[in-house]
Amino acid sequence: MPQQTKADKTILRALAGERQAVPPVWMMRQAGRYLPEYRATRRKAGDFLSLCYTPELAAEVTLQPIRRYGFDAAILFADILLVPQALGADLRFVQGEGPRLSTITGQAELAALRPVGEIDATLSPVYETIRILRRELPRDVTLIGFAGAPWTVATYMIAGRGTPDQGPAHTLKAENRGVFEGLMERITEATIAYLTAQVEAGAEVIKLFDSWAGSLTGADFDDYAVAPARRIVSALKTRFPDLPVIAFPREARTAYAGYAQATGADCVALDTSVDPGFAVEHVQPHACVQGNLDPALLVEGGARLTSETKRIVRAFSGGPHIFNLGHGITPDADPDNVHRMLEAIRG
Ligand code: CP3
Repeated sequence: MPQQTKADKTILRALAGERQAVPPVWMMRQAGRYLPEYRATRRKAGDFLSLCYTPELAAEVTLQPIRRYGFDAAILFADILLVPQALGADLRFVQGEGPRLSTITGQAELAALRPVGEIDATLSPVYETIRILRRELPRDVTLIGFAGAPWTVATYMIAGRGTPDQGPAHTLKAENRGVFEGLMERITEATIAYLTAQVEAGAEVIKLFDSWAGSLTGADFDDYAVAPARRIVSALKTRFPDLPVIAFPREARTAYAGYAQATGADCVALDTSVDPGFAVEHVQPHACVQGNLDPALLVEGGARLTSETKRIVRAFSGGPHIFNLGHGITPDADPDNVHRMLEAIRG
């Protein structure tokens, strides 16, 4: 990567370990239903998956929050469930309810999945979205590609939907370890291929979302959160030695300590529950940290939004930090509150 590009990009500087007086900022789910312009483009696409697979429209919604707010990073508009779909799962999104997929409950369903070599037949529009974005993004804005981590993706593939406690995935893991591990293996390989293609298309940073890492405890956390993340990071860095990776083991609690060293991630995204004092002591000495404003404050607004934003900026000011939320912005957030958050960070 040319030196000059990196110097212009605040996100890449933070990921390289640089402390900055004003932290760079972006938001999880920054392209989303809280924005009227997103709702308009989504209507034009018809449904969520058509939006994901129409490169011009997916690029348009990726750019909308950059135009409105001037964030330091854009995140590719897609979804973690496109990988299961590319592997052959039957996927749809039910309005107001969330995703529904065909389920994996035994060897027969696992064997029926498509080979990893065939995923690009489904996923190539995503790579085209990335190519459009690299042409259209302002030169100081970093493009982040992403995928779900294997455990989180597996929880949806096994249950066929979102679950409060990931019960079906835990049951398969306990009762049919061979099928569970075979599925984890297939997802890991597919994720490496998918992310490699994203970087080849122009993604500058990769983020791995392990939204349900918190339901893995003890040796399971090491085997199914840490080990697959380490494999993916290592495969990507073997191919692209300078590629920065952000990992998000949501609700890992005390297992946030040691996670960056164990996985090789350059940056660890902190969920809302992480006390900044803990992260300053146990995470930030080893990696850039990203987070962790409670998205509920973008609904609430007011003095607490400003004071909490400033508290997080101050808490992490001694080391590399990318300001973000502790989870995705919600559809009921007030778009003007995002301006107030930015004013508290940059003003
Ligand atoms: O702006 C961005 O962050 C980029 C795009 C993005 C989406 N999903 C778009 C989306 C990203 C990075 C994701 C990640 C994702 N998707 C995760 C991991 C992060 C997290 O939130 O924990 C997960 C678990 C999913 C799976 C998923 N996608 C669910 C459970 C749902 C339904 C719940 C909901 O919010 O509606 C989605 C749908 C989804 N993905 C939407 C968006 C903008 C809403 C769809 C709509 O427009 O109706």
